[in-house]
Amino acid sequence: MEAPADDDGASSPNVMYKAAHQAFRDRWKETDDSMCRHSMSFHLHHTLRSEFFASYLYLMEKIPLVKLFPVTCEYINGEKQFYYRAQQFYEDVPASEEGMMGDFVEISNIDLEGSREFLKRFVGPGKAGTHCALDCGSGIGRVTKGVLLPVFEKMEMADMMEHFLLHAHEEYLGDDADRIETYYCYNLQEFTPPKNKYDVVWMQWVACHLTDKDLLDFLIRCKRSLRPNGVMVIKDNMARQGCKLDPLDSSISRHLDIMRSIIAKAGLEVLAIQRQDGFPDSIMPVWMIAIK
Ligand SMILES: C[S@@+](CC[C@H](N)C(=O)[O-])C[C@H]1O[C@@H](n2cnc3c(N)ncnc32)[C@H](O)[C@@H]1O
Repeated sequence: MEAPADDDGASSPNVMYKAAHQAFRDRWKETDDSMCRHSMSFHLHHTLRSEFFASYLYLMEKIPLVKLFPVTCEYINGEKQFYYRAQQFYEDVPASEEGMMGDFVEISNIDLEGSREFLKRFVGPGKAGTHCALDCGSGIGRVTKGVLLPVFEKMEMADMMEHFLLHAHEEYLGDDADRIETYYCYNLQEFTPPKNKYDVVWMQWVACHLTDKDLLDFLIRCKRSLRPNGVMVIKDNMARQGCKLDPLDSSISRHLDIMRSIIAKAGLEVLAIQRQDGFPDSIMPVWMIAIK
């Protein structure tokens, strides 16, 4: 790219990056919404590679999140396939604690204990109430049963797989199923939780199943669903660097900084971040993030 002249007629890298940045932003404005939906066309690839990296230095300093969508899209390789594969994967997963935990059911109790301790910090007098919580990507309700039902009077659960929710209601939750006000069988990327309803919204091991853009939009919708003093908790695998796609269950683990950027872009504030203790070193680090 030829460097434009600055005020005194000379070319300067700053002016060049600014121009590239402006060109990128103008193009970005048009593509932002459809970016992840129709990603990976040759044209988009080309645009991102040339224009994005041309303005890289400028953007790095000014708008860190801009680089996230292309990064994750590149890993995902097409959003429709990404969601389709997850759907296929969970159709074959048994409605059991083993199914929810993959090959790691032995760490379920440590996980639940860590979550109970973390939750305590945000609930109580002057903090979040105990009226109602929403478990997103709840599966059969492992977290609902082990963490949330002991604290909240009523619960709601949302998951895309009907057989998990049915098992929760008919068997897994026992008599406590009476305290589940609603089961939402939805994809989170298409789900809008009711406004102003929840003291806590819990998202465990499901943020990894959403693209950056869908996660961002979902967080914005969840924010509106919180009652005064309400908090959201995201608990998930966080990649040691960048993004890491697991093609088997179609999940994407992000570095903590990427997750922080998405949270900030959603207009949410981080209250606390804590790593889950006691998990084997061989598995990816799991972090809990409380936001409001
Ligand atoms: C690894 S399991 C975790 C279940 C539960 N949160 C737990 O910790 O026991 C992931 C869950 O997310 C659900 N899920 C995956 N992608 C989803 C999506 N796009 N929308 C809604 N639920 C989804 C799956 O059906 C599954 O129940």
